[in-house]
Amino acid sequence: MKALIKPLALAALLAATGAQAQTVLKIGYATSQASHYGVGSTVFCEEMEKGTQGRYKCQQFPNSALGGEREQIEAVQLGTQDIVNTSTGPLGNFVPEVKIVDIPFLFRDYDHARKVMDGPIGQDLQKKMEAKGLINLAWTENGFRHMTNSKRAINQATDANGLKMRTMENKVHMDGYKTFGILPTPMPFPELFTALQQGTVDGQENPIPVILSSKFSQVQKHLSLTGHVYSPAALIISPAVWNKLSAADKKVFSDAAKKGAAAQRKKVNDDENNGIAQLEKEGMQVVKQVNGDSFRKAVAPAYAGYAKEFGADKIAAIQAVK
Ligand code: PAF
Repeated sequence: MKALIKPLALAALLAATGAQAQTVLKIGYATSQASHYGVGSTVFCEEMEKGTQGRYKCQQFPNSALGGEREQIEAVQLGTQDIVNTSTGPLGNFVPEVKIVDIPFLFRDYDHARKVMDGPIGQDLQKKMEAKGLINLAWTENGFRHMTNSKRAINQATDANGLKMRTMENKVHMDGYKTFGILPTPMPFPELFTALQQGTVDGQENPIPVILSSKFSQVQKHLSLTGHVYSPAALIISPAVWNKLSAADKKVFSDAAKKGAAAQRKKVNDDENNGIAQLEKEGMQVVKQVNGDSFRKAVAPAYAGYAKEFGADKIAAIQAVK
């Protein structure tokens, strides 16, 4: 009898004081909590907790603690993980239409990329994701990818010829990189540092915030600011969580995600502005004036394949956004 009264009394007390049960949501991402993904995720979590008066809060799992991005997307789709902040790299394996944004040299610069992702084209891709059980609350950002390697400086496309480079498990990237003469070696990110250390691959390509936060200066000598592909990212919540939220809480989550995305993009800007000097300090030799035309010329034949896969009109529509 005593055991029964206690929980009832507790429930009455919680109701009387306005206190409510708290749901803890697991959010995962690939890099450290100090990185762009960590900054964006933390702002999202704080805003979401504040907006729901503490009824929801996050438990963060940085540094691929819940697995590679592909595994985490799958877990969110299945409902065994609540939220992931992930690049689009492996997303095309779940939602093929998203692969279009991974085409090398598709976006001119950050302004262009962000306008496309936040505009009707990005919103249409969000709907395609929702149809596959992936609720994309906001396009966050990984950044423009640059090449690093342990062998030589890359000033132009021919310098990349013959380098064995780790790539994401993304055919659109790999088809493009082959035109530079690179030998693409797809590999999940959590295996990359060791592969670079042991010389299993000569190099890799990632945005400055990833190169910085993953301490690749310890295992790579050369960095070339190739900016050969933009890497968008998304804050994705599981339908298992989303479908249980009230309309008001959905708005809180969506608004929090937009603030998180803005903070993540700001961190990308800050790292682009200050991180290159930091990497030089750590001993990397940086080629800042890469011959971009040589890469664009090399990749041009791959565009025939991209046009066949995605439609020349769809590619042109992205390029036309001003
Ligand atoms: O190279 C990758 O796999 C991605 O850029 C990373 C580091 C997981 C961030 O999304």
